[in-house]
Amino acid sequence: MLPVLPADRTEYVFTDVSPWFTSRAAERFRDHPFVGYRRYDVERSPESQGIEAGRFDLVIAANVLHVVADLRAALATVSRLLAPGGVLLVLEATRPLAWVDLIFGLTEGWWRFADHDVRARHPLVSAETWARLLAQSGAADVATVEAARDDVELLSRQAIVLAQRGLAPVTDANGLGRVRRW
Ligand SMILES: C[S@@+](CC[C@H](N)C(=O)[O-])C[C@H]1O[C@@H](n2cnc3c(N)ncnc32)[C@H](O)[C@@H]1O
Repeated sequence: MLPVLPADRTEYVFTDVSPWFTSRAAERFRDHPFVGYRRYDVERSPESQGIEAGRFDLVIAANVLHVVADLRAALATVSRLLAPGGVLLVLEATRPLAWVDLIFGLTEGWWRFADHDVRARHPLVSAETWARLLAQSGAADVATVEAARDDVELLSRQAIVLAQRGLAPVTDANGLGRVRRW
């Protein structure tokens, strides 16, 4: 994303819960001076980590959200970062593969999921499930992008799910003002 963002009017914050990833990123993206780096835990509220909620036009969650214990809670927390009209872009692998389990299954995080009504046996969910969870969490609009071809059976399939936060308070059927959850 960085080469296509206008450097003169972009502020980008690269985050991870692990300083190892943020320091590697700082090295790799050093030619993009508009990028800042900080620790951020997707399972904790932005404010409790010193991050102002409602400030970001775009939040990119790349292959991270599947690590959480509760997807619904994490989506609610992460979406609080968005400014009105802002977009959450979720990039996730969407199909279980035995060889992937053999590698990442050795890490504790892979098996942390406790939302067994959504994820009964495996941390990854389909693009449709991501879209449903985001719509249920109150996103104003949701779209998914998936590779049309599925000819390489052994490779992990990645999907992009986009969810947009509503622009402003909306009025319900009785003409009463109410605020979208996000
Ligand atoms: C599969 S890696 C993806 C790394 C990177 N986002 C990318 O796309 O290349 C999963 C990442 O999630 C991070 N992670 C694990 N738990 C997290 C949490 N609670 N909050 C934020 N990041 C977390 C790990 O440190 C790791 O960097």
